[in-house]
Parts: sequence; C-alpha cells; structure tokens
Amino acid sequence: MEDSLDISVDFAGIRLANPVFTASGTCGYADELADFMDINQLGGFITKSITAKPRKGHATPRIVETDAGMLNAIGLANVGLEKFIEEKIPIISKLSVPVFVNLAGETISEYVAVAERLATEPSIAGFELNISCPNVERGGITFGTDPAQVTEITSAVKKAVNEKVLMVKLSPTVTDISVIARATVEAGADALSMINTFTAMALDIETRKPILANKTGGLSGPAIKPIAVYLINKVYKEVTRDRGIPILGMGGIRTASDAIEFIIAGASAVAVGTATFLEPGCAVKIIEGIKKYCARKGIANVKELIGSLEV
Ligand SMILES: Cc1cc2nc3c(=O)[nH]c(=O)nc-3n(C[C@H](O)[C@H](O)[C@H](O)COP(=O)(O)O)c2cc1C
Repeated sequence: MEDSLDISVDFAGIRLANPVFTASGTCGYADELADFMDINQLGGFITKSITAKPRKGHATPRIVETDAGMLNAIGLANVGLEKFIEEKIPIISKLSVPVFVNLAGETISEYVAVAERLATEPSIAGFELNISCPNVERGGITFGTDPAQVTEITSAVKKAVNEKVLMVKLSPTVTDISVIARATVEAGADALSMINTFTAMALDIETRKPILANKTGGLSGPAIKPIAVYLINKVYKEVTRDRGIPILGMGGIRTASDAIEFIIAGASAVAVGTATFLEPGCAVKIIEGIKKYCARKGIANVKELIGSLEV
C-alpha cells in the first residue's frame, strides 16, 4: 500500500514530491546539514533569510533553551546578497527539490532590490517574504503587523519576483492574524507561511539580567505548536480555503503526528525548524511517518487530508 500512496502536493503551482520542508534559518543554505540529511528527499527547501548586505547578527548568547522549546535572537546573520549569489546559488542549483529564498530587509526598497536580483535565477522556485522577524530593530516584524504596510511590501515584492511564487511569512504576534493574512493575499501573495516565532524573554535570576544579549528573542519549538495549529486553522477557514491559497505550516513540528495535525488544520505543506537542532534527520523521518499514517488510514492521496478537520 505504501508504495502506491501519493503524498505529493501542489503548492501554488509548484509540485512537491511530499509536503515536508525545513524551516528558514534552521538549515542554513543546504550544505550545512548535508552529512545528516539528504535535502533532495524533502518536498522543498527554504534558505536562511538573505539581506542586501551581509549581517553579523547579534552578540552572543543568541540562543537559550526553554522548557519546551528555544529562544533565539540571531539577528538575521547572513552572508548578504553578493556572496549568496557567488557561493550559495551553485550549491542550491545542484538540488533537485524546489528552493525558496527567504528575503529580509530594513526597507521596502531593500527587499525589492534583493528580489529583483534573484528573480531571474533559474534554480529558485520562489520566495518567502520574512516580514515577521521579531529580532531586529529596523524592518522585520514592523512590516508584518500593520495591514497597510503588509499591502505595500507584498505588492512591491510581488512585482519584483515576476512569475516566481511569493509566499509571505506571518507573525503570530498580532491581534487578528486573519486581517494580516487577508491584506497579504489581496496584495498578491501566492502562498502564506505561518508561523514565525513569538517575542519572549528568559532571565538570569542571579544577575537579574536577560540571558540573551539582545534581551528578547523569538520563541519556537513544541511550546508554540498548539497556537500554530489554531492560527493556521483560523486563517485557512477565514481567508485561504475559498481563495485556493496554500499555507506552509510550522511551529513546533517534531513528529509525523505533529505534521499531520497541521495538514488537517489546513496546511498544504509543513516545515520543520527547531526539531532539526535536536535531531538533524527529523524532517526525512516525518515524510516516512506521513506515508505510514496514510497507509494505516487507507488514504490514497495526502491531499485528502488538507483542511479535513471534522468539527
Ligand atoms: C535559530 C533559528 C533561526 C531562525 N532564522 C529564521 C530566518 O532567518 N528567517 C525566518 O523567516 N525565520 C527564521 N526562523 C523561524 C523559523 O523558520 C520558524 O518559523 C519558527 O522557528 C517556528 O518553527 P519551529 O518551532 O519548528 O522552529 C528561525 C528559527 C530559529 C529557531
């Protein structure tokens, strides 16, 4: 039965052999985890955020483990556009799976400039617009929390990426995520990815100081999973289902059961982030687990599961 199963999905016109990605920032530019995982077995790959200029990121400590997850304040450390083109595109070009480049910036024109430069690159299937990073002073989450700014940046970047798929990554730190999701989709987004991390803090009670050098960081991992499931289901019902816009779901996924929960809630595909730090081959194991679940349940095509929540 497992061999005749179809676990491929259509994601905004891109065919994915299976619905599992690794999440941006947790798997570098595809070469870092090559010893632990065959990236070509994934449904797709998303790069770490790229900005126009290289960024060193924040001072250390940049990561703290929490009870059910982790806090990070990396500060979008990355090699910058030119080095990305020179050194990372050749690595990405060798992959056989669709690659999304995650875009970040401090101004709309920075996002547009990076998108325009990469839009003609044949090895890139699409872009993930990061307007939800909680760990930078300028840009980041500020673009993703105000519907007017969401509209402006999404439509500007959509024009710049031309025919390529534009997926917009939403922040959970808003009053009503459907308002932002609707603004994004109406401005031309082809897909949504959700959720990015929650702004949070951990303190050292001996020194009475924050543990992270940046003071605050983004909370990820199992702690945020039920909130992610809820928000994805809300956006699926209120915004994307009737418009045929796919959601890439993420937030605390560690097992195939977690991934299936997200798909039932309304995600067309999922991404594994924090769990990769604990178990680098975890995303590939999840693909196998999804197949086993479908076989056990007599589900011939994983698409039947998308948004199949019974209420
Ligand atoms: C160490 C670390 C670095 C991250 N870097 C980025 C990034 O560069 N761009 C981005 O859009 N999201 C970034 N994220 C957010 C993840 O892609 C993901 O949205 C979030 O962590 C929730 O998924 P998870 O709980 O499975 O990790 C980062 C997360 C972590 C833990």
